Amino acid sequence: MNVKGKTYRTVWLEKSRVKMINQPVLPFKFEILEFENAEEVAKAIKEMVVRGAGAIGATAGYGLAIAAANASEKYFAEEIGKAEKILKASRPTAYDLFYFTDRVKEAALSEKNAKKGKEAAIAKAKELAKKQVEMCERIGEQGEKLLERESRVLTHCNAGWLAFVDWGSAMAPIYKAKRAGKKIFVWVDETRPRLQGARLTAWELANEKIGHKVIADNAAGHFMQKGEVDLCIVGADRVAENGDVANKIGTYEKAVLAKENGIPFYVAAPLSTFDLGIKSGKEIPIEERSEEEVLFAQGKAESSGKTERIRLAAEESKAANPAFDITPAKYITGIITPKGIIKANNNEIKKIF
Ligand code: MRU
Repeated sequence: MNVKGKTYRTVWLEKSRVKMINQPVLPFKFEILEFENAEEVAKAIKEMVVRGAGAIGATAGYGLAIAAANASEKYFAEEIGKAEKILKASRPTAYDLFYFTDRVKEAALSEKNAKKGKEAAIAKAKELAKKQVEMCERIGEQGEKLLERESRVLTHCNAGWLAFVDWGSAMAPIYKAKRAGKKIFVWVDETRPRLQGARLTAWELANEKIGHKVIADNAAGHFMQKGEVDLCIVGADRVAENGDVANKIGTYEKAVLAKENGIPFYVAAPLSTFDLGIKSGKEIPIEERSEEEVLFAQGKAESSGKTERIRLAAEESKAANPAFDITPAKYITGIITPKGIIKANNNEIKKIF
């Protein structure tokens, strides 16, 4: 990840501590935080210090690995099981969290003794994070083929560097295209209520010097209708066996609008986001977050330069806040995977595994 010319990763392991970019304070402040046990790591995921399916997965993997490293030899399996439970309860929708923790746990427990198990857990968490970076780069190479010398792409939420260890999913093709000398312009849905588009995707694009405009979530249809969007690329939190996709709330309506306007709608996802135990999107658990995220907004006050929280609705008003929605496969033109661009259906998904 390019931050003012310096290279970073979203999350990494350093001396038995999980270090990560503090995402809620972006774009106004760039800060690294560190956590030293699974409880702290789970809290960071829950509070979205780190967010985005891939970044959540890698963070949880590291969290479980440090739990293994710190576990007593006598109660090794029990302590790992406890940390796994806490981490898995942090956020329910993104499948990568389960993918990473299952594999780190398996690595730790399949060794002959705890000492070896600790080393195996750390090695596995690092290996999976490295693999994720490679998968995202492959997604970038595959997806770049979809972009003309000049393309106008619409994206929703943040599926860029910050949503993974590096590169991103939906944004990787854009970063690759920029490096190939293509002229890309990005319409960035602001993505209420937490504004991952306005705060994170726009910040990433500014760092990469890629032309973009942030638009209100309800403006996407207008630009599609006017012929100002060539294609849409979004990320995924979980892909079901039949190609239905869970992604940030609002993705579904963008996909329907894209179909209505004859605009290709692509989803980008690494293999760790596919849940082959789930037949359709109906089975994907949708996280319901605090109503406060809808009723309040947080930003930098122009007058003081300080971060302020402001109420947006009447004191009496309640809010509903589903964090994700399901886009049925029929609205998806293709899924950009590290193994190629596939149709969103059972047959094609089975082929890449
Ligand atoms: O709630 P978040 O910020 O963790 O959700 C992230 C998303 O839904 C993004 O849209 C993204 O596409 C999936 S993460 C690669």
